[in-house]
Amino acid sequence: MNAQVDNLLDMARLESGAVSLRREWVPLEEIIGSALAACGSSLGKREVNIHLPEDLPLLYIDAGLFERLLVNIFENTIKYTPTNTTLRVDAQLLEARVLLSIEDNGPGLPIGREESVFEKFERGNNEATTSGVGLGLAICRAIVQAHGGRIWGENRLCDGRVCGARIILELPCEEPPAEDGSHAADVSQGNIPL
Ligand SMILES: Nc1ncnc2c1ncn2[C@@H]1O[C@H](COP(=O)(O)OP(=O)(O)OP(=O)(O)O)[C@@H](O)[C@H]1O
Ligand SMILES: [Mg+2]
Repeated sequence: MNAQVDNLLDMARLESGAVSLRREWVPLEEIIGSALAACGSSLGKREVNIHLPEDLPLLYIDAGLFERLLVNIFENTIKYTPTNTTLRVDAQLLEARVLLSIEDNGPGLPIGREESVFEKFERGNNEATTSGVGLGLAICRAIVQAHGGRIWGENRLCDGRVCGARIILELPCEEPPAEDGSHAADVSQGNIPL
């Protein structure tokens, strides 16, 4: 219930076009840690494996919005995968981009709808008994796009069969702050598309 109210509020804020990105330089591991902490015990026994390269630069992002984004993805794993599922978070630095992937070994995204589940109010066919309104991934997409990045979903395949869902985010790397600390914080007006 709380998660749904959070999503509706986020969505109203994002759609109003009045969202300010409060960007700061933050380590990705910190955001992942706070998103996992926000999910708390609802992750249950699910193992979480995090693989981040040592040379990953700080990201120039709105930490609060990014935590919401990751919480939405982790909450989906909690809702749509069995309790013994493993969640894996990987990051890679590719030239001027960071690729972040979050994958599980649950039933996978609805086949043929890997893209449309990022639309507002789009849910899988069998989710009627699971709480939710189909906003989580639409919010994730709006947040990533506001940061100049993109997000998509795909199914993992093992021996030709679907063996889990994978959500991938691609973010441009910004120039690091100058030695004198200028450019350390910024508030930019973002018109967040949904
Ligand atoms: N990890 C996952 N495994 C399997 N299916 C998933 C996963 N993540 C998302 N989905 C599918 O994508 C659909 C859309 O997800 P989204 O987060 O946008 O909405 P929701 O979870 O149904 O509702 P809300 O997020 O508003 O509570 C889900 O209904 C589900 O069918
Ligand atoms: Mg969701």
